Amino acid sequence: MKHYKIFISTYPFGFYDSEPMRILEEAGLEIFTNPLKRKLTPLEVAEFAKDVDGIIAGTEDLTPLIQKNSKLKIISRVGIGLDSVPLQLCKDRRIAVAYTPDAVTMAVVELTIGLMVTLTRKVVLAHQELRTGGWSRFTGKRLGESTIGIIGAGRVGMNVIRILSEFKPKKILINDLKDKTKEVASILESRKIEFQFVEKEEIYGNADLISLHVPLTSKTKNLIGRKEFDLFQKEAFLINTARGGIVDESDLYEALIQKRIAGAAIDVFETEPYKGNLIELDNIILTEHMGSCSYDCRLLMERGSAEEIIRFFSGKELLNPVPEEEYQNQIV
Ligand SMILES: NC(=O)c1ccc[n+]([C@@H]2O[C@H](COP(=O)([O-])OP(=O)(O)OC[C@H]3O[C@@H](n4cnc5c(N)ncnc54)[C@H](O)[C@@H]3O)[C@@H](O)[C@H]2O)c1
Repeated sequence: MKHYKIFISTYPFGFYDSEPMRILEEAGLEIFTNPLKRKLTPLEVAEFAKDVDGIIAGTEDLTPLIQKNSKLKIISRVGIGLDSVPLQLCKDRRIAVAYTPDAVTMAVVELTIGLMVTLTRKVVLAHQELRTGGWSRFTGKRLGESTIGIIGAGRVGMNVIRILSEFKPKKILINDLKDKTKEVASILESRKIEFQFVEKEEIYGNADLISLHVPLTSKTKNLIGRKEFDLFQKEAFLINTARGGIVDESDLYEALIQKRIAGAAIDVFETEPYKGNLIELDNIILTEHMGSCSYDCRLLMERGSAEEIIRFFSGKELLNPVPEEEYQNQIV
């Protein structure tokens, strides 16, 4: 293979398993890793990767890099979200884009289900209270007696529905751009769990627990803000393990402080690492964009993205090129 330079912006990479790094080196690629060992700003990525041929990227906005680096040939995303990749610009510049869409699914699903139980059964409140001498034995509504709203029934949303079906929720309300009735029916009908595809507003007004699994696009930016929170039931909980920017953070703060909703669990933020005022509140659980942070998922994603880079520079076809549909979805 000719001599190519690759920058790995995402961190950690090859931390829990060295295989992804080893296969890149064995392929004869010159590898540069993120020297700051934290999420880089878009301008830092542009500077560190200004003369590489390919990048293995996390969720940093790559627009400044593409503007600065005229020889970039491939972006290999560790993960599924493409909101950080300006796809049309890549197409115009003939930059290939690969991702690892299936590697992350079950790790995000498990975190989501865990947050659902932790939030509705007030586990964090109990933990905090017990450490200061209290013992009030908080009580909550079981998932099995709840109406659950799922917005986005793709890889993650569909598997959340499948695992939730074991709890036998009262009803599952679903919203997706596509008609996924058959797929959902094949999971829920034999278990006699009622479900319905509905408009988003119907979910806001009727669900005890709403979980977001849509990508961040021009249509989902600030999807849930003040107007939507006003439709929520007072006892409703919101979970966002999808993307920062889908929920308006200042409107969420208002809704939580005014107890217009019961609580929220948020894994993803508009700006990460998150330093905002949601940390002041008791009726929220905050995690650190760690949906993909299981050992197996990190390895699958990192190896998958490394293999795409190797395939590309060996002149082979990509296994997971971003499909045309995703390019269309990004067009405003
Ligand atoms: N927390 C994390 O660490 C983490 C890790 C991986 C993925 N994610 C996020 O999880 C989310 C879901 O991932 P996935 O693998 O299921 O993606 P996916 O592409 O398989 O599914 C997304 C679904 O959302 C639907 N959708 C798109 N726009 C919509 C809209 N405006 N209204 C209703 N439905 C809409 C699509 O039709 C699709 O069914 C994404 O936002 C992804 O970025 C988070």
